[in-house]
Amino acid sequence: MSVDLAKVVGHKTDDVPVDWNRRDLLLYAVGIGAKKDDLQLAYELHKDFAPMPTYPVVLSLKGAGQDVNVFADKIKGKPVPGLPDMDPNRVVHGSQSIEILKPLPLESGPGWKWTSRYVAAAENKSGIVLTAENTLVGADGQVYAKLYSSSFNVGAKATGQRFAKAIAGPPQAKPIPQRAPDHVFRDQTTEEQALVYRLSGDYNPLHVDPRIGKAAGFGGVILHGLSTFGFAARAVIATVAPRSPTSPSSGDPRALTLFGVRFTAPVRPGDALETRIWEVEGAGAGSGEVEVVFETVNVTTGKVVLGSGIARVKKTPQAKM
Ligand SMILES: *[C@@H]1O[C@H](CO)[C@@H](O)[C@H](O)[C@H]1NC(C)=O
Ligand SMILES: *[C@@H]1O[C@H](CO)[C@@H](O)[C@H](O)[C@H]1NC(C)=O
Repeated sequence: MSVDLAKVVGHKTDDVPVDWNRRDLLLYAVGIGAKKDDLQLAYELHKDFAPMPTYPVVLSLKGAGQDVNVFADKIKGKPVPGLPDMDPNRVVHGSQSIEILKPLPLESGPGWKWTSRYVAAAENKSGIVLTAENTLVGADGQVYAKLYSSSFNVGAKATGQRFAKAIAGPPQAKPIPQRAPDHVFRDQTTEEQALVYRLSGDYNPLHVDPRIGKAAGFGGVILHGLSTFGFAARAVIATVAPRSPTSPSSGDPRALTLFGVRFTAPVRPGDALETRIWEVEGAGAGSGEVEVVFETVNVTTGKVVLGSGIARVKKTPQAKM
């Protein structure tokens, strides 16, 4: 097959069946750091128990079923026309976004699927960046969530020439305003955070086996980027969403309608995180939604671990589902 990144853009891969139940939602909540006061996310008998709206990001690796999977098999997939051979051990998650179009049910039941197509490809001296658009489609045929995920294939080469083509992509964050953040939320990952997060479906050994983390140049294990993603989503909900009447210490998760970030640096299990949030005017103006921009930093080093953060949050209290 000839290598041609232009051919990759628009290529649709096979749909995969996905499912989840209440237990999966509880496990995800603790994987992204839910604390004893976040019972709306972490206790199925809570009066307003609701899914964390970012939950669907786990489904591409989890798929359907409950048992562990083999990470190496999960990422293999069928050959994509136009793509060169790339080293699966040198792929890093570049960015992730999710737009929630319909509230998720507490359990999927059968018949749900995950769709995927490539919507952008770019090559430069350092490697190849691919962006996929995914949708979560319910058994009723409706789209519940639309996601964009980009992966940076470090050292990969198609032609060696600069190239860029895109037919779609995630909503872009506005620049961070020149003022102190409107909200600051501190949180603590635990030494075992990756051991818990992986149970949601990402069994990549990089996050659990220190030898693999060292060989990959990280000096040990690193936390799943999507766990940090969930920590930041909890931060936005806790500070920007309307109070939940029955969980006054945390915000209502059902208010979050869009959430996206770039992954800018690794986080180690045990690191303390601080998310800095600015409310800005945005596409949500007039819709009862507020748009925010945010970044998440490693508290001790001050290093930005999530950048170009964008979220939209409904400001009016949500009716119970
Ligand atoms: C190539 O693209 C990646 C991902 O967008 C970026 O991080 C890197 O700095 C770029 N490298 C060059 C040489 O432009
Ligand atoms: C975050 O900061 C702590 C404290 O300085 C440090 O030990 C840790 O390695 C940092 N994390 C990363 C991924 O650099």
